[in-house]
Amino acid sequence: PKLVFENIDGSEQIVEAPVGHSVMLCAVEANVEAILADCGGACSCATCHCYVEGGVFPDPDPIESQMLGLVEDLKPESRLSCQLDVTDEMDGLRIKLPASQG
Ligand code: FES
Repeated sequence: PKLVFENIDGSEQIVEAPVGHSVMLCAVEANVEAILADCGGACSCATCHCYVEGGVFPDPDPIESQMLGLVEDLKPESRLSCQLDVTDEMDGLRIKLPASQG
């Protein structure tokens, strides 16, 4: 599947996303600048914050919810991309990126 990362300025990066990768890993491998992922996917830095429409991924677990409390620009659709696993159904999914990270 392919994921579409949309920057705050509206520019896009379309990224090949292997099934089983986290959305964070796909972004890092494609040098998506707005995803820093300082902790490498351990759900302890919150610098992999992104926005995804509801219902696409399972709801955040308690650890992700707690870490989301640290992000700037929190919205109802905020997620931590290291906690989102790519599946075939996600082809074409649009992931919006926040203005600030980290
Ligand atoms: Fe650190 Fe997601 S990469 S919380």
